[in-house]
Amino acid sequence: MKAVADALDGEIPVTAKIRLGFSDRRLAVACAQATEAGGAARLVVHGRTRDEGYRPPAHWEWIAKIRHRVSLPVVANGDIWTLEDYWKARTLSGCHDVMLGRSALADPWLAPRIRHWQRTGERLADTTWAMRASVLKQYAHRQRQQLPKKVVVSLVKQWLAQMRQGNAEANLHFQLVKRITDLDTLLESLVVSTGITEPA
Ligand SMILES: Cc1cc2nc3c(=O)[nH]c(=O)nc-3n(C[C@H](O)[C@H](O)[C@H](O)COP(=O)(O)O)c2cc1C
Repeated sequence: MKAVADALDGEIPVTAKIRLGFSDRRLAVACAQATEAGGAARLVVHGRTRDEGYRPPAHWEWIAKIRHRVSLPVVANGDIWTLEDYWKARTLSGCHDVMLGRSALADPWLAPRIRHWQRTGERLADTTWAMRASVLKQYAHRQRQQLPKKVVVSLVKQWLAQMRQGNAEANLHFQLVKRITDLDTLLESLVVSTGITEPA
């Protein structure tokens, strides 16, 4: 941390990201303090140890323990999938800011939804399949400028696989396209109706 921060000499803020530890949390606070001593401008804490992998829950209350022992801004990360999760993570960690990982792929509108809620107290409508399909198409369009079509097919399927967790319409589309190997056929299949009626 110190080597990078010293090399940049304050020109570019250096941020750090840690988990709570490797097998246990005994060094969580010490590691956070070390990033601060090394010159980190901001610290993201993923509220799990390495051994906990991605197993829920993320321990947001541990992020608060860290936050109380450092002076740099701390960002909470781990298992924020919904507005409610955001609120709980914020309440338990005391952090104003959060980082989204898998949920940013599962629902690309979660971040704008959180921001809108912060600003207005209003809840934006759920993300529809049409919105998801349009972002997948944009993604494919950009990637195909520089990558072979078969690679783009695989990338689109990977993203769709992230979206299908917890979303029935995305799951049905995943089943529909998972054996398709041609990019244009795949993209056309994204707009096929699965018969699921979504909320307006
Ligand atoms: C596609 C993807 C790429 C990631 N790349 C990195 C990375 O380069 N460095 C890192 O520290 N964490 C990386 N992560 C982990 C996330 O930053 C985050 O800590 C983790 O996914 C837990 O948050 P979540 O429960 O919101 O997914 C990545 C996660 C995903 C889904």
